[in-house]
Amino acid sequence: MAHILVVDDERSICELLEITFRKEGHRVEVASNCETARRKLESQIFDIVISDIRMPDGTGVELLQFCKEMSPSSYFLLITGVPTVETAIAAINAGADRYVIKDHDLVDQLRRAVRQVDETLRLKTEAGYLRRELRRLTGQDNIIGHSAKMREIFDMIMTVAPQTSRVLITGETGTGKELVARAIHENSARSKEPFITINCGAFPESLLESELFGYVKGAFTGASENRQGLFRGAHGGTLFLDEIGNMGPPMQVKLFRVLQEGKVRPVGSNEEYEIDVRVIAATNKDLDKAIAAGEFREDLFYRLSVIPIQLPPLRERREDIPLMARAFLERFRKVMEKPIEGISPSAMNLLEAYDWPGNVRELENTMERSVALETGNVISVSVLPEKVQRGASHENPMRPIQDNGQVQFPEGGIDLEKSVQDMERAYILAALEASDGVGTRAAELLKMTYRSFRHYSKKYNTR
Ligand SMILES: Nc1ncnc2c1ncn2[C@@H]1O[C@H](COP(=O)(O)OP(=O)(O)OP(=O)(O)O)[C@@H](O)[C@H]1O
Ligand SMILES: [Mg+2]
Repeated sequence: MAHILVVDDERSICELLEITFRKEGHRVEVASNCETARRKLESQIFDIVISDIRMPDGTGVELLQFCKEMSPSSYFLLITGVPTVETAIAAINAGADRYVIKDHDLVDQLRRAVRQVDETLRLKTEAGYLRRELRRLTGQDNIIGHSAKMREIFDMIMTVAPQTSRVLITGETGTGKELVARAIHENSARSKEPFITINCGAFPESLLESELFGYVKGAFTGASENRQGLFRGAHGGTLFLDEIGNMGPPMQVKLFRVLQEGKVRPVGSNEEYEIDVRVIAATNKDLDKAIAAGEFREDLFYRLSVIPIQLPPLRERREDIPLMARAFLERFRKVMEKPIEGISPSAMNLLEAYDWPGNVRELENTMERSVALETGNVISVSVLPEKVQRGASHENPMRPIQDNGQVQFPEGGIDLEKSVQDMERAYILAALEASDGVGTRAAELLKMTYRSFRHYSKKYNTR
């Protein structure tokens, strides 16, 4: 049975469809505007979304675009009371799976459409499909993000990929440097050729040289045969020099020469050979500082950093957190075969508020752990690591007021009314969660009468 979201500002339509599909055994949620629908799409996974086109705060087509980004595998059916050629074209262009006109036939048409989707979903769970899908979902090469900062990174990847210029990727640990390097390779003309990675910090000097450049038999004790080295192995493709900031000075000189001349000499050999390798380097060190301190050669820096890409830490693009958290949830719930459908709003608030020193890797691990620990059907606050649970108390995105009383405005400003409502809603939900859904206890926690609590609870539809 499917998990369905119905979005329509006409209450009667929502009710009609909710009753119809509930009766058929589906799980149905409703939203009466785009904003509510967006929040639901952010925190839950729906098989089917049925949405009206014209709503007071946006259009179904916009919602469809948002949904495709959040959850590309969901089916999206658009319904409209005012069919026009333009909207039909917009719907199809945006990738709607169905376009249904609200007439006396609406319920029957939708019922048929949902049945078909349901059948497809059932077929999809067959072994072969599942295996392929799993590989796709666990594949590490899907870069997620919709913040302005990540969009810039995507544009950058697509611009630099077809060229052969060297790229230096910088950013804190876990921000996705390797992922970006791979994406550049995958989107280049070299994608069929090898992509080879080496962690320059993991080898002692002499070993790194022979790893990179290869050696000939007898070059040193233990060199019992010729070995080609990674530059040779990556011929025609891309060599990813990770942790370049940890490369020692003598090796830096050697690498500089190789990049300068485009030729490699294996250790112990007196012959050089030409290389055709695109070099992408990465580091989480501040190379400017390392250069100033005399630890990193400036000439090598300029050779490597023809195109610099700087990955922002996750806390500077919090808009990406819900999207990523959901994508990781989707990945791990499939791998672990758990019936978890979403993330509770208060858990999502905490995820968005936490600082993520380990960046995306830490978020990924947190979601894996949460999916493993969760016994209910949504990720709840109780399975989040303690530091994430604690994180919100000092810095909450909905409370941009700092300890010294100053307000820090995020990009694009703050919608006061919405922030206050978000906060009220978060408190109501948190209190309900903390009191196991017992309203009187939740009211006590919030120092209000049960009557007021019911008022808020109803206002925010928390039940
Ligand atoms: N934008 C993203 N979308 C999806 N997954 C991401 C994203 N960024 C990072 N990840 C995931 O987070 C993890 C860490 O990413 P990656 O290894 O690329 O980071 P890194 O910057 O190389 O970190 P380090 O400096 O510690 O080596 C990986 O599992 C990666 O798949
Ligand atoms: Mg890395």
